[in-house]
Amino acid sequence: MDESMHKLVAMVMLLVLPSGMLAPSQAQAPAPSNVYDLIIIGSGMAGLGAAKRAKELGVAKILILEARDRIGGRTITQPLNITLPPNSPAPAAIDLGAAWIHRISGARGFNPMAKLANDSGSGYVTTTEAGLSFDPKGVEDTDQWDKTYEDMLARWEVYYGKYLNGNPKDTDSLQTVYDKFVQSAPWSTLQKATLLQALVTEIAMDYAADLSQLSGPWSQEDYNWGNGPDALPSRGYSTLVSYLATNQTIWTNYAVDFINYSNPALVDVRGRILKGTGQGSTFVLLAKGVINTMPLGYLQAQLAPATPTLFKPALATSQSAAIKAMGMGLLNKVILVWPNSSWWSGIITTPWLTIRNSTSLGSFSEYYNLAATGVKLPVLICFNAGSFAKSVESLSDAVIVSRALGPLQRLLPAGKTIPPPVQTIVTRWASDPWTYGSYSYNKVGVSYNTRSKAFAALGTLKRVGFAGEHTHLQFPSTAHGAYLSGVAEAERLAPLVK
Ligand SMILES: Cc1cc2nc3c(=O)[nH]c(=O)nc-3n(C[C@H](O)[C@H](O)[C@H](O)COP(=O)(O)OP(=O)(O)OC[C@H]3O[C@@H](n4cnc5c(N)ncnc54)[C@H](O)[C@@H]3O)c2cc1C
Ligand SMILES: *[C@@H]1O[C@H](CO)[C@@H](O)[C@H](O)[C@H]1NC(C)=O
Ligand SMILES: *[C@@H]1O[C@H](CO)[C@@H](O)[C@H](O)[C@H]1NC(C)=O
Ligand SMILES: *[C@@H]1O[C@H](CO)[C@@H](O)[C@H](O)[C@H]1NC(C)=O
Ligand SMILES: *[C@@H]1O[C@H](CO)[C@@H](O)[C@H](O)[C@H]1NC(C)=O
Ligand SMILES: *[C@@H]1O[C@H](CO)[C@@H](O)[C@H](O)[C@H]1NC(C)=O
Ligand SMILES: *[C@@H]1O[C@H](CO)[C@@H](O)[C@H](O)[C@H]1NC(C)=O
Repeated sequence: MDESMHKLVAMVMLLVLPSGMLAPSQAQAPAPSNVYDLIIIGSGMAGLGAAKRAKELGVAKILILEARDRIGGRTITQPLNITLPPNSPAPAAIDLGAAWIHRISGARGFNPMAKLANDSGSGYVTTTEAGLSFDPKGVEDTDQWDKTYEDMLARWEVYYGKYLNGNPKDTDSLQTVYDKFVQSAPWSTLQKATLLQALVTEIAMDYAADLSQLSGPWSQEDYNWGNGPDALPSRGYSTLVSYLATNQTIWTNYAVDFINYSNPALVDVRGRILKGTGQGSTFVLLAKGVINTMPLGYLQAQLAPATPTLFKPALATSQSAAIKAMGMGLLNKVILVWPNSSWWSGIITTPWLTIRNSTSLGSFSEYYNLAATGVKLPVLICFNAGSFAKSVESLSDAVIVSRALGPLQRLLPAGKTIPPPVQTIVTRWASDPWTYGSYSYNKVGVSYNTRSKAFAALGTLKRVGFAGEHTHLQFPSTAHGAYLSGVAEAERLAPLVK
């Protein structure tokens, strides 16, 4: 990275036009040295996967442009300021974005993230889905609750399968389907309550959106990589990111805001330098091919004005409408760190923990206990999702942390209080201007081909392609889906740009 940063500084001096002198659309034609074989916009899993594959395929001049001052996008591992005992299985660090490798293996072989975790020197530990569930008072749920929950989830699956086979309407939300299910038989209060809790815990939380926002027919059209267990990269996702970035030219603080693909042979890419050398200046680059990994939330924000300016020519109305029809979900973490896990040992014994809130389902209810996993960190993470998570983002860290601690306190016997955490980290992915959310979902109203329509390549020679988790048809919303979408775009474009 250091070496490429030096190159960066040298190049910036040559390329950059002083700001204010020339608007991007009037900027001078770039010098021939500014012509790249491949420009990749974004240094997340998709961009880095694309760059690695393009290099392997012999594409010579590859440049990655990244708006943030760091690489990795929605993967970022933050070191914790605690000292772990010697010989701890993992360093004190925590992922604020992607954390799991979802299903390390299966019929498709190893998940590519598992291979990357090994190649990068991180390694990984597998995790279980074991969980405990407590009622709102902090009392462990009864066998009757647990059995009804499992029974209703199984009945739901049967009902939902029939629903899918019965010509479902694209205008249905999952909430609509739940409502129909509730009307289909005289269920008891307990049956209805357990099923709604199950759908919020198992579906809304995973897909990072409300049941009323998720498409009835299409919200669960994604695939699992395999049937093997999930895993956590032992050193966090940033280790995989640094490894992928090796040998690549990456210009951080370079925000792209104009992609002109009118010329069939060369794409014109322009933007602004946000920080560091050349701050405030515009840049102009040309490329034979472009892979655009801007997240869905960012693309939607760009397309929101009456006359969007990101693409020249403007996207076809049908393509722009498809991008806008998709959903950008929200999953946030409240990361609570203690010097050790002694206060919850014997109380929270599983990785997953639900402390139900019966009036506001899923709010400060879902926790993950890293002490009960192979990384053995004294950390609890509270998750919020969907519109509730969005409403929480405007609260202060102190308020959010105290709301996350409240349900945990109820697990302790009267008179005992939780020791104050020594470190807390609150994520706000919806407010992040380079993503505006956590990951994509199929929103109520989409149809089966919305995602593929949304991210079709642009231009007569299709030199501008899209990649990113939101573009992957089988594995959207995941780190491996993002990575594989980048690899696929690199493979498509390599013969065109070499
Ligand atoms: C809280 C959370 C938890 C998650 N948990 C998991 C998990 O456990 N397992 C899993 O597999 N996945 C998980 N995910 C999803 C996973 O993180 C993403 O699917 C994946 O990282 C997306 O990669 P990407 O390359 O598509 O996008 P990004 O990582 O967002 O990369 C896009 C890059 O483009 C840059 N960019 C945007 N606009 C511009 C511009 N105009 N100019 C230049 N650069 C720009 C951004 O700064 C960013 O670096 C989680 C995500 C979140 C937020
Ligand atoms: C990663 O390394 C571990 C330990 O050597 C090994 O058991 C596992 O199979 C490896 N996984 C992959 C994907 O290569
Ligand atoms: C980086 O380049 C070196 C030298 O060509 C090579 O040995 C190494 O495998 C490359 N690393 C990656 C991650 O591609
Ligand atoms: C876009 O590119 C075309 C072809 O190179 C050029 O004629 C046009 O002026 C460019 N448009 C803008 C707004 O830069
Ligand atoms: C564990 O952490 C608490 C503070 O949360 C501290 O009082 C206690 O001494 C620690 N125990 C050990 C064994 O380090
Ligand atoms: C349940 O959630 C609501 C809304 O977030 C909150 O006001 C209430 O205090 C929560 N109840 C419990 C028992 O935590
Ligand atoms: C640990 O990090 C938090 C920020 O997350 C900070 O407020 C706190 O002061 C740090 N503690 C130490 C001992 O460095």
